[in-house]
Amino acid sequence: MIIAIDGPAGSGKSTIAGELARRFGFTKLDTGAMYRAVALSALDRGFDLDDEDAITGLARAIRIAFPPRDGKPGPICVDDVDVSRQIREPRVDTCVSKVSAYPGVREAMLAPQRAVADHHDVVAEGRDIGTVVFPHADIKVFLTADPAERARRRVIQRHEHDDIDIADLADEIAETLAQIERRDALDAGRAVAPLVAAPDAVRIDSTAHTIDEVVDQIARLVAERR
Ligand code: DC
Repeated sequence: MIIAIDGPAGSGKSTIAGELARRFGFTKLDTGAMYRAVALSALDRGFDLDDEDAITGLARAIRIAFPPRDGKPGPICVDDVDVSRQIREPRVDTCVSKVSAYPGVREAMLAPQRAVADHHDVVAEGRDIGTVVFPHADIKVFLTADPAERARRRVIQRHEHDDIDIADLADEIAETLAQIERRDALDAGRAVAPLVAAPDAVRIDSTAHTIDEVVDQIARLVAERR
């Protein structure tokens, strides 16, 4: 079975996909991590990010994989080096949309993404899962949330272990909102595989719902189709 979850940055896809994978024993596939790994490799090797041919060649040459741990795909590796922490750095946030808009880069990611579903039930999350990667997914969800709420959640998540008052985070939330809006526009406006809901996707707006409520809603869809 394949569950496809698409939606903009900060809509809760990753947390929700993780929880569904846990409940049903599915494998979670974070496709954004793969585009982040390409962007990180380009930055670390000093590539010119405007050089589409070079970046495409790089995406084809590096080996991005989730080597198994305890029978499940483990942390993301580039040529066997764990990059799961580095791909979340702000320098990657700022350039990943550019890199992921290159058609050759997207093409290079398709086979490894699809391969994950060869041997596992999968809950895959990204921007084009229900439209391009798994157009025949059993369940498709397009998850959205109000941009201001997405920014708020991102910042709170970033500071979850800090002793800080939310009132002191207003500037950071405003800055994150601007970044999110910029990334949404790039992801939705690109020519190839833009961020768009598949016609047969169930749309869920999580603005006024908890993660658990959304997971329960999708879990009911899974139970109906099993
Ligand atoms: O989900 P994320 O924020 O980790 O994704 C990082 C970037 O990768 C995002 O800005 C758009 C791109 N992406 C994509 O183009 N297609 C996907 N299936 C997943 C992510």
